[in-house]
Amino acid sequence: MPDLADVQGLVLRGYGMPHARHLVLRVDAAPAGRELLGSLVDGTPGRPQVTPGTPWTGKPECCLNVAVTAGGLRALGVPDESLATFPEEFTAGAVARAGWVGDVGPAAPEHWLPVFRDPGFHLLVSLSGQSAAAVERATDALLAGTAPGVRELGRFDAALLGGRVDHFGYVDGISQPTVEGAPPPGPPDRLPVAPAGAFLLGHPSQFPGHTYPVPQPEVLGRDGSFAAFRVLAQDVDAFVDLLAEQSRRTGADPELVAAWLCGRWRTGVPLVLSPHTGSPDPPLPPEALNDFGYADDPRGERCPIGSHVRRVHPRDSRVAGGGGHRHRVVRRGLPYGPPYDPAHPRDGHERGLLGLFLGVSLRDQFEFVMREWVIDGRFAPGLGRTQDPFLGAGGTLPLAIPGGGRTALTGLPRLVTTRGGAYCFVPSLPAIAHLAGRATGTSTTAGPAGRRTSAVMDGVGATPSAPASRSRKDA
Ligand code: HEM
Repeated sequence: MPDLADVQGLVLRGYGMPHARHLVLRVDAAPAGRELLGSLVDGTPGRPQVTPGTPWTGKPECCLNVAVTAGGLRALGVPDESLATFPEEFTAGAVARAGWVGDVGPAAPEHWLPVFRDPGFHLLVSLSGQSAAAVERATDALLAGTAPGVRELGRFDAALLGGRVDHFGYVDGISQPTVEGAPPPGPPDRLPVAPAGAFLLGHPSQFPGHTYPVPQPEVLGRDGSFAAFRVLAQDVDAFVDLLAEQSRRTGADPELVAAWLCGRWRTGVPLVLSPHTGSPDPPLPPEALNDFGYADDPRGERCPIGSHVRRVHPRDSRVAGGGGHRHRVVRRGLPYGPPYDPAHPRDGHERGLLGLFLGVSLRDQFEFVMREWVIDGRFAPGLGRTQDPFLGAGGTLPLAIPGGGRTALTGLPRLVTTRGGAYCFVPSLPAIAHLAGRATGTSTTAGPAGRRTSAVMDGVGATPSAPASRSRKDA
């Protein structure tokens, strides 16, 4: 089991804070970058410190976590031999992998915000605060003590909307994996508990008998995680028009159309548990909201097989490879942009969702979900080449008619457009100290279970281990 004090908090626990800011930093001078990282883990007075995974006695006013891109590792002086031991999708980066995960057309990198195409996107410092003021104070404290060799390239702010909804009006943040050894994300559900190795390097993963190779040196890779940082613009006008149009065409209530698209009613109630109303009487207790599967709805008569939540986490549904529970991602996102006011549509403001999608493997979690389940439907019966109604480029949502027969919502528009993406490594706290040149390990001997300790920056000579070559379909 990982030591929670070594692990960055945001990997294993939701902070439940209503404000977030993500700062993009460029490291112009490696010593300044190392100094910054070191000051975030060494207790420097007045500096915000990286929040670990240990349970709180009292909730802090602000939490800080840090992630680094492949370019950032290079800028900090990590040698090529060490970088070669990181998975290739991470070193290639989000721009290079965009087409693979469906970022095409208006979502293609040439349309992304410039900072995401900037090779100086090195560090992502994520602040979560109980108030906007707390985030502001932490930003000031962070930047005030940062040497000139580190520059801010951009910042992204996000804040909870009333009712914990996203801009389409759905209650969000309900389903998160329960991770062995970590604080539970909410009321207990009966879903399989994910092993720590599904989210942290160096521990047995969700695939029996498989542990992902730890990037070397061990102190750098172990207990780290990977994150896809995404800025996803939501076209709320198109969504509102879509509900009205499809309601007119099908005769269904607009709220039911909204539930078909998501797989949950906008109230958060799962369609599979309550196919006729989003406000069952008596109400579902909170612990029931994530305590369900789809096995007794194999044809999707209650919850469309192609709806968003059933695609991105098919649970016990019949899917190619049978891995409905094996590609889970931890989501740490909040809405950005002003709330949508239906009385003043088409206000020209950008709004959406931004945050991190985390896992031990970008390829087998975030990318797998996007590639195999979101932008292709051949993993499940009856979906064909359809795409996720929220995240796809538009198209068709097949619907099963209870008792037999099929129909579809057709002519769906693109609702979400990627405005930027970055692939990041989320190092453990000892790894941050190591990157800062403050690691204490000096031996290169293999420890228990092949665990290595190594000297500062000794990527050279560490065992380069290629990412597993298991095929996507069998996962
Ligand atoms: C603007 C874009 C998006 C919107 C509006 C959206 C909306 C939602 C909503 C309303 C839920 C249900 C609430 C919950 O279960 O917590 C949900 C769940 C989920 N979403 Fe998204 N989402 C977006 C992007 C993404 C992306 C890019 C991924 C990629 C991995 C993703 C993966 C998930 C997962 C894994 C769940 C939980 C499913 C489950 O366990 O049942 N979402 N999303």
